[in-house]
Amino acid sequence: SPFFHYQDNQLFVENCSVNDIAKEFGTPLYVYSKAALKAHWQLYQQIIDTYKKVLVCYAVKANSNLAILHQFAQLGSGFDIVSGGELARALKAGADPQKIIFSGVGKQTWEIEAALNAGIKCFNIESIPELDLLAMVAQQLNKTAAISLRVNPDVDAKTHPYISTGLKENKFGVDINVAVSIYKKAQSLANIEIVGVDCHIGSQITKISPFADTADKLIALLDALKAEGIVLKHVDIGGGLGITYTDERPAKPVEMVNIVMQKLIQAGYGDVELILEPGRSLVGNIGILVAQVQFVKDTEAKNFAIVDAAMNDLIRPTLYDAYHGVLAVQEGKDKAKQTVDIVGPICESGDWLAKDRQLAVERGDYLVIESAGAYGFTMSSQYNTRPRAAEILVDGDQCHVIRERETIEQLLALEHIVD
Ligand code: LLP
Repeated sequence: SPFFHYQDNQLFVENCSVNDIAKEFGTPLYVYSKAALKAHWQLYQQIIDTYKKVLVCYAVKANSNLAILHQFAQLGSGFDIVSGGELARALKAGADPQKIIFSGVGKQTWEIEAALNAGIKCFNIESIPELDLLAMVAQQLNKTAAISLRVNPDVDAKTHPYISTGLKENKFGVDINVAVSIYKKAQSLANIEIVGVDCHIGSQITKISPFADTADKLIALLDALKAEGIVLKHVDIGGGLGITYTDERPAKPVEMVNIVMQKLIQAGYGDVELILEPGRSLVGNIGILVAQVQFVKDTEAKNFAIVDAAMNDLIRPTLYDAYHGVLAVQEGKDKAKQTVDIVGPICESGDWLAKDRQLAVERGDYLVIESAGAYGFTMSSQYNTRPRAAEILVDGDQCHVIRERETIEQLLALEHIVD
């Protein structure tokens, strides 16, 4: 890509050499490109420019660094949050509360209170007990809560089962076939205002057909609701569009939206606001994880490059068997390439980042794990008492530290020894 490229065999992020960045800030290190972020946003801005009544609510969970959220807020993005913590982040980053929607199956009372007090746009309701709790909390605070019902359209997103959410047998949303009765109940509740319908069918979806099927099901629901006199202001089709990790050819955001909008317009719902909740397709390919080779270990069965990043930094490979490309920061060395597994120092066989890659590796080399901008840092942990990685945002020839590397002192600070 233009944002991650080689110049004289050296990998650059925009105009910054990865070798220099790694030397200055240490590894493991997440590095994001601001220009890449803007370019990915632009794919959604085009949709907004075309259809006008479109709100893009970036899914904070994909990459929730304040500096990243701030970029999206400045670009006019809304935010899809799933916790009180993400609400605090979005607000601190400068989000317009009227562009925040709150998803998730387990909202707690304090989180609902905080969101009502902030004046968010909408709660995506996932169950009847949640609706009841929201009505009660809203009444206590003397506020009106705008709601959208998350329905489960029972479509197959054709993606990894761990990240597929639109099938009948999972915990998300309510069965679309009982949605009308829940809307009628919501209608009867004081302090509740019905504003929309919502769904999210899965993640890393590369085809358009699951979204088209979902649109058909949502339209049937809109018709049924209209017959009951319930008119919705918005339709939220969720996130889920995939990215290229290796050879995937995912549908473009505009292609997906064109199909959905065509169907809405044909069915007479052309002036309903369309909400999107993209995460991965906005940030997945804006970032890399940089690691340094500690040892090369050749065994009879396999060759290993043991690096200083591990499953605690990037859990996607071991959790989903996910493929991430690996690049050498310095290309064109004399050393011959060999087949290696890239593994971390953690005491688990599952601690691997990539398998069977052709690389020329030596102790001290820097390697880059590609497509690590989404669900990378946000899913990281401190397992094995490893401080979490630092994060850098590159802007042209400038590098900004947007999260400092944790210290071991910080890791221990909240614990108390007792006798
Ligand atoms: N909206 C809701 C309600 C969601 O649950 C999600 C993601 C999104 C939007 C954003 O989906 P995206 O556009 O990023 O596909 N950790 C997994 C992905 C889990 C996705 C969870 N929900 C991974 O690393 O592949």
